[in-house]
Amino acid sequence: MVNSHCAFALALLLQVFYWSCSSVEVVQTAKGTSDRLTPKTGFQFQKNFESSISIQVNRSFRFQEMLGFGGAFTESSSFVWSGLNSESRQQILDLFFSKDGLQYSLARVPIGSCDFSLSFYSYDDVEGDTDLEHFSIEHDQKWRIPFMKAAIATRAKWSNTSIKFLGSPWSAPGWMKSDGLMSCPVSCLLCTLKAKYQDTYSKYISLFVSKFTEIGIPIWGVTVQNEPGACSPLYEGMHFTPETERDFVKNHLGPVLSSDHPHLALLVYDHNKDHVAKWAETIYSDKNASQYVWGMAVHWYSGDQFSNLNTTHYIDVSKPILATEATVKREKDPTDPLWSHGEHYAHDMIGDFNNWVVGFIDWNLLLDMYGGPDHAGPHECEGLIKCGSDAMILADNTTGKIYLQTFYYYMGHFSKFVPPGSIRIGVVSSNEDLEATGFVTPDNTTAVVVMNSHDDPITYKLLDEISTLAVNVTIPAHAIQTVLYSV
Ligand SMILES: *[C@@H]1O[C@H](CO)[C@@H](O)[C@H](O)[C@H]1NC(C)=O
Ligand SMILES: *[C@@H]1O[C@H](CO)[C@@H](O)[C@H](O)[C@H]1NC(C)=O
Ligand SMILES: *[C@@H]1O[C@H](CO)[C@@H](O)[C@H](O)[C@H]1NC(C)=O
Ligand SMILES: *[C@@H]1O[C@H](CO)[C@@H](O)[C@H](O)[C@H]1NC(C)=O
Ligand SMILES: *[C@@H]1O[C@H](CO)[C@@H](O)[C@H](O)[C@H]1NC(C)=O
Ligand SMILES: *[C@@H]1O[C@H](CO)[C@@H](O)[C@H](O)[C@H]1NC(C)=O
Ligand SMILES: *[C@@H]1O[C@H](CO)[C@@H](O)[C@H](O)[C@H]1NC(C)=O
Repeated sequence: MVNSHCAFALALLLQVFYWSCSSVEVVQTAKGTSDRLTPKTGFQFQKNFESSISIQVNRSFRFQEMLGFGGAFTESSSFVWSGLNSESRQQILDLFFSKDGLQYSLARVPIGSCDFSLSFYSYDDVEGDTDLEHFSIEHDQKWRIPFMKAAIATRAKWSNTSIKFLGSPWSAPGWMKSDGLMSCPVSCLLCTLKAKYQDTYSKYISLFVSKFTEIGIPIWGVTVQNEPGACSPLYEGMHFTPETERDFVKNHLGPVLSSDHPHLALLVYDHNKDHVAKWAETIYSDKNASQYVWGMAVHWYSGDQFSNLNTTHYIDVSKPILATEATVKREKDPTDPLWSHGEHYAHDMIGDFNNWVVGFIDWNLLLDMYGGPDHAGPHECEGLIKCGSDAMILADNTTGKIYLQTFYYYMGHFSKFVPPGSIRIGVVSSNEDLEATGFVTPDNTTAVVVMNSHDDPITYKLLDEISTLAVNVTIPAHAIQTVLYSV
């Protein structure tokens, strides 16, 4: 394929010739078009040229190694999935876990019930059972375990790296807590683990890991506590301060897990970015606690606060940061998805990854047309609008029809092209309207994600600083692109 660019390149160095003929693929999703993760051709490297707007890529700058992308196997998601016909069930598995789908490699698993469950339950509701003789994961055999196993099988069809499952407890069994309940009816102060049950509860978490792993769902890691600062009378919660979580890890949970499951990753905090640096300081500065900790888990509900992630990274550069939960409220009829939700997700991911975050786990994989079911309601509904929570897939349980929301596609611009083991590289945008981040994959493909969330298209040059060649790209209004090229 010799075109004018290649002909020009012949005059340059051999390496440059190779580069200018090597193809560039632009995968695109754009509002008001039919482009949804659609590959575009016709892009070519050429000698660097003048352009007022540029994305500069420097593949020699190497930052964090990426862990993966995923969603959460809540009981609500699993209940909705199991109620669909087998064709829709397989379609959903493929959309998330197949090679043609999002290629999810991570998953979060609530340990017992959470707000998106159908009822309150733990794996041992027998009061005073300090030996955990009645511990059982039987409850999850109905909905969650079949869904997780089907997901594992879907990924195994094309990948030999298994899904990494991350367990997160919302609450200890009620009888182990000062208020006797899994929810927090009075206040955070009364919603804590009783001191006398700290070892029992550590064993309980360890048994969760053992029992799921035994049935073929390998638990890769656990967080100490989902949102330790959130206490709601409506749903499961348990309160820790940075100091009480540090001491629980140091004296109870850390020693039990490291002895029972030496390869398990233990993540702390699992709450919003506003206070992440404070938690890192408190826990990482105590080496006796920190030795048990793999890294930090964050949620997005307090806003961008990307610089807090950078601060956290430099408190201990050996500890990765993982985004473990994000969700959006339902604001529109699922048959007419809201575009800005996709932009919200990509904005957060770009900011997170540019500040050391190694992966991103979405909340509920799917929900019903009312954004549920969940036992933490009630919700105000206006028909199908402003109802429950949003999810990438909303499923109509009467027809079996599923509706993809925009953030499914925005997620795909990352998850499909940034496999585990990819390394983030240096990417600088000259224009604040163009948000960007980039990676090299384990097979040396360069993947640069560029988002335009404004009302006009933008033409930019993507300059590869190592080859000193550039490609001319126009991104439509309200669009996201993944620019792919290989050495
Ligand atoms: C690319 O990054 C490397 C590593 O930091 C640096 O040495 C080099 O100068 C950079 N190249 C350009 C063109 O900025
Ligand atoms: C996994 O698959 C990759 C790519 O297909 C291959 O290179 C690698 O050897 C495989 N690893 C194992 C352990 O089978
Ligand atoms: C850490 O553990 C060592 C050995 O058990 C002990 O001497 C030291 O005081 C502990 N430090 C803290 C901060 O707990
Ligand atoms: C991240 O933090 C480091 C260390 O404090 C600082 O040198 C660097 O400028 C920060 N980076 C950004 C992008 O804020
Ligand atoms: C479908 O979902 C609605 C709303 O959550 C629920 O009331 C109904 O029972 C579900 N039907 C089936 C067959 O699961
Ligand atoms: C990727 O590129 C680097 C240097 O550019 C090279 O050392 C390495 O062998 C390449 N890896 C693969 C899998 O091609
Ligand atoms: C880049 O593309 C824009 C829009 O198609 C075009 O106007 C411009 O001339 C191109 N620039 C170069 C250097 O090819």
